[in-house]
Amino acid sequence: MDKIVIWGGERLQGEVQISGAKNAALPILVSSLLTEGWNTFRNVPDLRDIKTIKKLLNHMGARCKTQAPGTIQINSENVRCCEAPYELVKTMRASILVLGPLVARLGQARVSLPGGCAIGARPVNLHINALERMGAEITLTEGYLEAKSKRLKGAKIYFDIATVTGTENIMMAACLADGETILENAAKEPEIVNLAQVLNGMGAKVSGAGTDVIRIEGVDKMHAVEAEIIPDRIEAGTFIIAAGITAGDVIVRGCVPGHLDALIKKLTDTGMEITPVEGGLRAIGRSDIRSVDIMTLPYPGFPTDLQAQIMAYLTIANGSSLISETVFENRFMHVSELQRMGADIKVQGGNAVVKGVSGLRGAPVMATDLRASASLILAGLAARGKTDLSRVYHIDRGYEQIEKKLSGLGARISRVRE
Ligand code: EPU
Repeated sequence: MDKIVIWGGERLQGEVQISGAKNAALPILVSSLLTEGWNTFRNVPDLRDIKTIKKLLNHMGARCKTQAPGTIQINSENVRCCEAPYELVKTMRASILVLGPLVARLGQARVSLPGGCAIGARPVNLHINALERMGAEITLTEGYLEAKSKRLKGAKIYFDIATVTGTENIMMAACLADGETILENAAKEPEIVNLAQVLNGMGAKVSGAGTDVIRIEGVDKMHAVEAEIIPDRIEAGTFIIAAGITAGDVIVRGCVPGHLDALIKKLTDTGMEITPVEGGLRAIGRSDIRSVDIMTLPYPGFPTDLQAQIMAYLTIANGSSLISETVFENRFMHVSELQRMGADIKVQGGNAVVKGVSGLRGAPVMATDLRASASLILAGLAARGKTDLSRVYHIDRGYEQIEKKLSGLGARISRVRE
């Protein structure tokens, strides 16, 4: 198995290009299930999760071709199999995204119920309740959700929690339903806006994406589209924090500054200078970092997907920071690994108090999930000495060539076979 080795202490400098967003690409590739003909998707990142979703689509009978790096074509005309098997769902929970489109297009779906994961229980009850309100009959048999409906009916749905993939799942299902669906307390993430644009390009009638009320007028048929995936705001945020934690000076190209407002505000409060430049942002860190309190929230609040990374940064701030995780109940698995590097962090329930220390020390550490891995790499960049990160398959799920991009900025980082 590969591991990542980092020799810390280099100040990052230069330019880095941000890839397409994993969490936009996943639902968008799945949306091809609603169409006939060859869809072309551009700016698709080369990640393990993308390979998994392609495998799943292939399993169901779709044809996927990689045209050029970052360009994927998908034709779902021959999709007859409506099953998402346990073997694929257990490696990637986002496979649940096929549930809505399959029922809408084929009238049935059989999708393995995702279990818990390293960041929490993560139920999918809101996806199920919404489909039931649209007339689907759903049963749980041998660990599989089985859904049936001749034709889904438009409905008014209120989400108790603003769920990202739940909103996406139901938005896709509603595109081919009979009549109008209204989603209230919908998630507002930029990835949802990107999906809505793509669905509308396919002939759907979706309005309000990006606000908490989304309306979808069902249509009878949808057609193939050519579409572009938005840049990955979490990858961009991770590189901005990398500039901060190394007191570096980095131009993050290809990101959308407006998608990063909450992060920019907080990092500016710590003393970083973050300014728009042609095609991206320039991030300048400083050696005296001010502490700051963080609370994760649904977009436009501070993203839970950057919580672990900003925690790594705040471990070397002056003073104490309070980090409150409100989106997932168990997203502090990185804490014990950061402690092995000398961080002073106390966790109580959903809160972590991070008391800044004068420096971190390299250590062998283990990745527990995707964003925890990113946090440990950031800590390794700032630490004295060598950090060995094992279980790097987590990072490959969501960061394209992270070690190459960081080396390009002057980091001493490499991937080695154990
Ligand atoms: N929730 C329920 N019931 C549901 C659905 C969600 O109780 O039916 C709860 C969850 O347990 C959680 C909260 O609602 O406490 C929000 O979860 P959400 O459904 O929004 O999360 P998700 O759709 O499963 C997506 C991203 C995650 C990201 C979260 C929050 C994708 C493929 N995944 O997950 O990304 O953390 O939204 O922004 O879009 C990552 O990329 O590392 C990652 C975990």
